[in-house]
Order: sequence, then structure tokens, then C-alpha cells
Amino acid sequence: MDRDQIICPCLDITAGQIIDAYEEGAKTVEAIKDVTGVGTVCGACLDEIEELIQNL
Ligand code: FES
Repeated sequence: MDRDQIICPCLDITAGQIIDAYEEGAKTVEAIKDVTGVGTVCGACLDEIEELIQNL
């Protein structure tokens, strides 16, 4: 997984930011959304986040 890969183009949020949030305790998509704001614009990235965290 490339940490610099943009997962949420709406907010320019990278895989690295998602992984960091997960490692800091946000273990669900909802929690990661609360912490990073990811997925709060169009929501199209939420499935990708789910997939990403399942592989962590
Ligand atoms: S791609 Fe993440 S909110 Fe639009």
C-alpha cells in the first residue's frame, strides 16, 4: 500500500492518513470519518476505506 495514494480526492486524504487514524484507535469507517473528515463530501471513498482497513 502506497501511503501517498489519495483515497479521498474530495479532501485530498491519503492512505497514510487513514492508516494513522486506524492505528491511533479509529477502528471503523465511522470512527475514521469522525477523526479525519474523510467521506464527508460525496462519500464515494467510503467503500475503499472499508477495504483498506480490512487489510490492516
Ligand atoms: S471521495 Fe471522499 S468524500 Fe468524496
